[in-house]
Amino acid sequence: GVKIVIIGGGSSYTPEIIEGFIDRYEEMPVDKVVLVDIPDGLEKLNVITNLSERMIRRSKKSISIEQTMDLEEALQGADFVTTQIRVGGLEARAADERIPLQEGLVGQETNGAGGVFKAFRTIPVLINIADSVSEICPNAWLINFTNPAGIVTEAIIKHSKHKKVIGVCNIPFNMRNGVAEMFNVPVQKVQIEFIGLNHFIFGRKVMVNGEDRTQETIEKMIIHDQNYSPANIVSLGWKPELLRSLGMLPNPYHQYYFQTSDVIKKDLNDLNNQGTRAETVQRVEADLFKRYRDLKLNEKPKELEQRGGAFYSDAACNLIVSIYTNKQDIQTVNTVNHGALSGLDDDAVIEVNAMIDKDGPHPIQIGDIPIQIKGLIQRMKNMEELTIKAACSGNYEDAYLALLMNPLVADETLAKKILDQMIEAHHPYLPQF
Ligand code: G6P
Ligand code: MN
Repeated sequence: GVKIVIIGGGSSYTPEIIEGFIDRYEEMPVDKVVLVDIPDGLEKLNVITNLSERMIRRSKKSISIEQTMDLEEALQGADFVTTQIRVGGLEARAADERIPLQEGLVGQETNGAGGVFKAFRTIPVLINIADSVSEICPNAWLINFTNPAGIVTEAIIKHSKHKKVIGVCNIPFNMRNGVAEMFNVPVQKVQIEFIGLNHFIFGRKVMVNGEDRTQETIEKMIIHDQNYSPANIVSLGWKPELLRSLGMLPNPYHQYYFQTSDVIKKDLNDLNNQGTRAETVQRVEADLFKRYRDLKLNEKPKELEQRGGAFYSDAACNLIVSIYTNKQDIQTVNTVNHGALSGLDDDAVIEVNAMIDKDGPHPIQIGDIPIQIKGLIQRMKNMEELTIKAACSGNYEDAYLALLMNPLVADETLAKKILDQMIEAHHPYLPQF
């Protein structure tokens, strides 16, 4: 049977992935799941382990579930390792969101200065985890959800000993689902050619039942204001000019780049009323864990859909099953470019459609980056690489440069002001600085 290790097992998202393994048991019999967490997360881990046990009992599948705080012991004999950690917890996220916003910039956990700092905290921790994976279970695939997922995946592949790493996000899957709803077809009938980076992808071509429906999708988005935003992003709606001139589908995170001042206005207003998204998530989590403690609950509760990452387990489990069964289907993942997208380095991680078989993802050739988005994609990748460099070096100038070159900062005075505040705020989680 298959052994899965979930790092960050005490996450409120875990019931989803457990449900994913239960639902796919006939295709892939998982016989052991180990939930790993840190001492600070023990209480949540206990609740999640108990709920997982009840879910498995109800399903009558013979999956055993264990919890531990000993990573090295957990990794023995693992086939797949997933990571879903949040270094510094939601409090650190709140600082990532609040500090830039108070300076009049986008305050978001994976974009702008917040995303850069999330990367600084996370990259060293995940490189260590990946090194342990390479020592203890070198054949295991590391499936990374930890944000910023694209940057973190590239950092691990470049700087750890472990190379079997794939980054996953629910956004491409949500976009396909959104289009499926617009055309009233099952999601399997929708294919989108994606181009770009994690939380910065565009859908160039939309195929529904094998036919190109890109233009109609764009018109539907204009006329019906239909969109595919996750719970954490309130869609402001796209202007017809933007959609028609772009000729491609933006993803919900593009609002931070193309509707910057409106988003900042809205988020500043929210800040005074309900706080940052991190604070909303703290309240959602408290309610979720109250539900999870109810011994009568033995399935994933509906309330989990209040989280932006809802349905991430479909992306994760489909990927794992396709590797395990050598399925050779197409999925959208964060993986090494290897020439699929010209204009970016071969060793850059991109978010791309890939054929998934027993040897992992094989990206599908895209060719040139379309001219509309070429400059921005290259700039974003450049900023990501400066971020990885600074996360590893712990050098002040490197960190300053990563912020300055981020299109959502791009101001010498603000770059320094935010850098100094954030180094201070995140001090316990930035040992390299
Ligand atoms: C989206 C992103 C995830 C992110 C989540 C945040 O779905 O793809 O990468 O973690 O939103 O949701 P939250 O409920 O934590 O704000
Ligand atoms: Mn994501």
